[in-house]
Amino acid sequence: MAGPSLALRWRDRWSTQRDRLLTSARFRDAASRFAATRPVARKRARDLFDLVAGFVYSQWLAACVELKLFDRLARAPMTAAQLAMESRLPLPAALRLLEAAASLDLTERRGQDSTGETRFGLGPLGAAMVGNTAVIAMVEHHRALYTDLADPLALLRGERPNSEMSRYWAYAGGHAQDRAPGTLQDAATGPYSALMSATQPLVAGQVLDAYRIDRHQRLLDLGGGEGVFAAAALARTDKLQAMVFDLPSVADAANARFASLGLSQRAQAFGGDFHRDPLPPGADIVSLVRVLYDHDDEPALGILKAARRALPAGGTLLLAEPMAGTAGAEPMGAAYFGMYLMAMGSGRSRGAPELAALMRRAGFDAVRELHTALPLQAGLMVARAA
Ligand SMILES: C[S@@+](CC[C@H](N)C(=O)[O-])C[C@H]1O[C@@H](n2cnc3c(N)ncnc32)[C@H](O)[C@@H]1O
Repeated sequence: MAGPSLALRWRDRWSTQRDRLLTSARFRDAASRFAATRPVARKRARDLFDLVAGFVYSQWLAACVELKLFDRLARAPMTAAQLAMESRLPLPAALRLLEAAASLDLTERRGQDSTGETRFGLGPLGAAMVGNTAVIAMVEHHRALYTDLADPLALLRGERPNSEMSRYWAYAGGHAQDRAPGTLQDAATGPYSALMSATQPLVAGQVLDAYRIDRHQRLLDLGGGEGVFAAAALARTDKLQAMVFDLPSVADAANARFASLGLSQRAQAFGGDFHRDPLPPGADIVSLVRVLYDHDDEPALGILKAARRALPAGGTLLLAEPMAGTAGAEPMGAAYFGMYLMAMGSGRSRGAPELAALMRRAGFDAVRELHTALPLQAGLMVARAA
């Protein structure tokens, strides 16, 4: 077997030298004193501190969300005394919260009131939280995730089969166990479906801006949840019809949503298990939105093959989900979903090349990647049924 190339050996040698320097406390100390290296040393120290403190930052955000702080500040800036009174916190705690949030750009100091008390308003990140039901739902839902994260090594070793996340995502791994996904009741599918419906508008907007759905006649949204994506697609063009396929209890919720939106003539949801049951025929486009990354390789390939069988030759596959290796958002796939899906007990975030290979194995060609405005929320790929 050929050894590493010359370029690789040089790179290793360079990296070894760099590691030797950076792991030396004396070097780090000298770098922080020397004017030319000080900015880099400070940035590294800050980056490392942010990693150490990340969980704590998230808990300040969770406290702000629970107190509906951003909605309060959107109405008017307030002092710690006002917050203390409105939210039944001791005064020093209210001040501590507002100051911590200011350090995280969630709040912002806005001068003083007539009694000399500091007023706080929305900071740039706090302003982005106002009315942001998707991110608020994620923050609230993380409370359960954090329980599982308390012991990351137990997760890595597969020692937490009954994690909070695997209970929450009741279908995860279910096809391989007695718990057949097709038998799940509303009590099991309702909470995650509500979270998906709250966060789906972010994704639907990105996807439908990047791909013109009006060239199609009939959409099948596979694992389409309560029909939020299908309804958003229908809103883009009058000539489209839509079908959703999801677990029976979720499909019932989708049909109820279509009825409440007056869309029952154009949209219908079908209940079943996409690992076993035939899919409704007649679609010229199948979408998989935030579905494939929930599944390990073999079932993921099975889902893609089912999508292929549901399409005529020349039909379109649209796949949207957060993808590993997304430029500028690398920790989202590898670190965030790497841990999240491990806690859930099934699936992994894949990069575009790996997804393309799976699609080809399932009988698709002309695979291409489309750009969305915010790939952190959804990467997008399109393929043709061969
Ligand atoms: C992460 S959610 C995404 C929902 C929706 N596409 C969205 O982006 O909001 C995955 C969806 O796949 C559905 N699902 C999981 N396993 C399934 C199965 N075996 N058969 C049919 N649907 C399934 C779930 O019920 C859920 O609605």
